[in-house]
Amino acid sequence: MTRFAPSGPLRGELRPPPDKSISHRAALIGAMTEGPVDVAGCLDAADTRATLVALRRLGVEVEQESRSAAPGGIDIRVHGIGLRGPGERIESGGDPVALDVGNAGTLIRLLPGWLAGQGRGAWRLDGDDSIRRRPVDRVAEPLHEMGAALECRDGRLPPLDVAGSALHGISYRMPVASAQVKSCVLLAGLQAAGETQVIEPASTRDHTERMLSAWGARVTIEDLRTVPTVGSGPARRITVQPAAALSGAAVTVPGDFSSAAFMLVAATIVEGSRVRLTDVGLNPTRIGLLGILNRMEAPIEVDEGPEGVEPTGTILARHGPLKATRVHAEEVPLAIDELPLVALLGCFAEGTTVVSGAGELRHKESDRIATVVDGLRAIGADIEATEDGFAVTGTRGLRGGPLAAHGDHRLAMLGAVAGLASRDGVEVQGMDAAAVSYPGFESDLRTLF
Ligand code: S3P
Repeated sequence: MTRFAPSGPLRGELRPPPDKSISHRAALIGAMTEGPVDVAGCLDAADTRATLVALRRLGVEVEQESRSAAPGGIDIRVHGIGLRGPGERIESGGDPVALDVGNAGTLIRLLPGWLAGQGRGAWRLDGDDSIRRRPVDRVAEPLHEMGAALECRDGRLPPLDVAGSALHGISYRMPVASAQVKSCVLLAGLQAAGETQVIEPASTRDHTERMLSAWGARVTIEDLRTVPTVGSGPARRITVQPAAALSGAAVTVPGDFSSAAFMLVAATIVEGSRVRLTDVGLNPTRIGLLGILNRMEAPIEVDEGPEGVEPTGTILARHGPLKATRVHAEEVPLAIDELPLVALLGCFAEGTTVVSGAGELRHKESDRIATVVDGLRAIGADIEATEDGFAVTGTRGLRGGPLAAHGDHRLAMLGAVAGLASRDGVEVQGMDAAAVSYPGFESDLRTLF
């Protein structure tokens, strides 16, 4: 158990750890290229380490291991084995190659997109108890449509068995807005016959599209103008053409907005705080929380840096009084990993903050509607779960007490931040879960007070 006592004002400057989503993609898509790809500041955390281990099992050489200038990162060189590399390296007739994804949802959902089109070989993807409760039928379904041979437990859950087959392009309308599913289908599309289209019901993070385009794949993105109705947002169609090869180039991974969000929210709710976050990824498909904070009247300032493949910049967060807000379905994918923090902000806002259309939260590292509501209620919040979200009424702060992280990294970090802003402090049970995305979280946080 780790106690986070009420703190004084938070002050200082931090560079958040490297972006988890971009790190996974740089390593994985780097492995699909024809040559060496240098990744500066790849996140060094449990999730991304699982990706590097899995890639090595596939025969990819990943050279390391200098610490990066970016805190929490390592500089690596990924020796790409080509789009057909995994199949070419497999011995015929052997048992399926076992790949352990640990806790990493992004790995178990993206990697099958590469393996399914190998034409030969067999792999079994499995992970920890949490991953075994998370659905993989969402990627199995479109891959089946493309002609893939996959099987999962009860038709829905890991372990996921993939046998390399020949794929053909499809047009896939995603039933849920998921960047992981979109990415999986796009990766599979690189090796399919004919073009592949993915239609997303609302915009989701587009790191895969940006990286594939930068590395020579033919990817087009169209905004689909739909009649705006409540709960339906801007839809997009992403089309990828089959590729003979990808040519990688060096990547510098920006700081993770989703990790920075904990510091940003801490500064917003702890009186007298002023915290500057530097070199943060500001991809518009990731920063829905900034719009939400804006509506809540939080005094946040953003300074955009030079535009690269991924936009970055500096965020200055200060304490201020907050107003309640509503978050609807179309905004959910842009703030999906930050919605637990919206619940915490709601505890400090005047009025009732309502999040709806966020049923996807039930399929994260924990059922985040249940665990966030239980966790915050245990420390004095006035919060109710709904089927697809929650409603929280501000009570001018939080009492404090014990909060169980349920093995979920984002819940552990949420508890720590809540403790600093609480009256009596919060004891987080399972703080070590933070190592999944942000091993230096506790020490970074402690530099601010
Ligand atoms: C991620 C996509 C999101 C997000 C997850 C990382 C990614 O999941 O919650 O933390 O890297 O593509 P979904 O695509 O399932 O919404």
